[in-house]
Amino acid sequence: MLLPSPSTSSGDAPVRSTDNDAAAARVSAVKQGYLLDPFAKHLVPRAHLLPLRPPLINIGTYVRTAAIDSLVDQWLELAEKASQTCQIISLGAGSDTRFWRIASGKLSDGLGTYVEVDFPEITTKKAMAIKKSKDLLTTLGDPSHVSLDQGGTALRSTRYHLLPLDLRVDPEDVLKSVLATPQPNGLNLVDPSKPTLLIFECVLAYMAPELSSRLLEWFVKWSQTSPCGILGCIVYEMFGLNDAFGRVMVNNLKERSITLPGAEAYSTIESLPGRFLNTGFTAARALTLKEIRKSYIPRSELDRIAGLEFLDETEELDLVLDHYAISWGLFFVNNEIAVKWGHWGLVDRDDSDINM
Ligand SMILES: C[S@@+](CC[C@H](N)C(=O)[O-])C[C@H]1O[C@@H](n2cnc3c(N)ncnc32)[C@H](O)[C@@H]1O
Repeated sequence: MLLPSPSTSSGDAPVRSTDNDAAAARVSAVKQGYLLDPFAKHLVPRAHLLPLRPPLINIGTYVRTAAIDSLVDQWLELAEKASQTCQIISLGAGSDTRFWRIASGKLSDGLGTYVEVDFPEITTKKAMAIKKSKDLLTTLGDPSHVSLDQGGTALRSTRYHLLPLDLRVDPEDVLKSVLATPQPNGLNLVDPSKPTLLIFECVLAYMAPELSSRLLEWFVKWSQTSPCGILGCIVYEMFGLNDAFGRVMVNNLKERSITLPGAEAYSTIESLPGRFLNTGFTAARALTLKEIRKSYIPRSELDRIAGLEFLDETEELDLVLDHYAISWGLFFVNNEIAVKWGHWGLVDRDDSDINM
């Protein structure tokens, strides 16, 4: 099949600009006390001057981040229980700080390699910001192992690797060799026999669905190359864009020359797991941010964030949160693995003592 080819670098500028929105929302949620993230400000120029976002955006940022953190933490805990270290690959990572939060947290030991990829314009900016920040550099470990690479578009360290890559390019052409890059310890950058978690946080909506499917299928096949392959994938994005609210969102983005080809196929929450099941994953689930806020965030956290800002319109909040979803898929090569990893996923707070 002939797949759409990547457009020009300047044509991608509007999509790249969405990273500024995500980073500004994160900084606002941190300033208002929703999130604890001492690293976010180092990746955003003049973060202290950024205007605060409205309460419903801050709450949305909180719910999205808490839910993804919970899935990532569970992944690290399951790896630890299996006496393994896991790998995380964040695709379209932008100015995300998750690596630093994990590496400075209590689950750090369970993390092996952490790879982030994005367009070179974004990785260059991030690599420079990392080099300039003592806090970010310290968390990367031994400074003698931190180096810029590929003309400053990449940054390498013992565990953390920031790499330039257009996700629309055939994975066989570039990604394959990037992931197999030999490291100073003689091993490849990532290893299909280790539990590997992919994160697409607000990225796939901007890509043609055929190209996202090709990428997901490629990762499943890559995992199958190991007899103990286990692959998890988290996707966060907007969906259900064919109602009045969705049409307004699409038109607002169109004014900035941003389209959402990857969201068009997903009109309902039920349709989202299909993305995983149709690309070879074994199991998948999806929840809206509205459902996650209502039933999956611990009550103590809901009470805490309710006291942070006055929110006069809960109906509007529900409408917004009902158009964003977190979905996750799991692929495992053999059933022995299914017993250990099959329960990975968000748990309704009334069904579990596990706190997010
Ligand atoms: C909305 S931002 C999200 C950034 C980050 N994941 C977060 O949640 O904070 C979308 C990111 O995806 C990246 N992106 C979109 N399409 C991409 C592609 N084809 N290749 C690489 N990165 C891409 C953009 O450059 C941008 O950094």
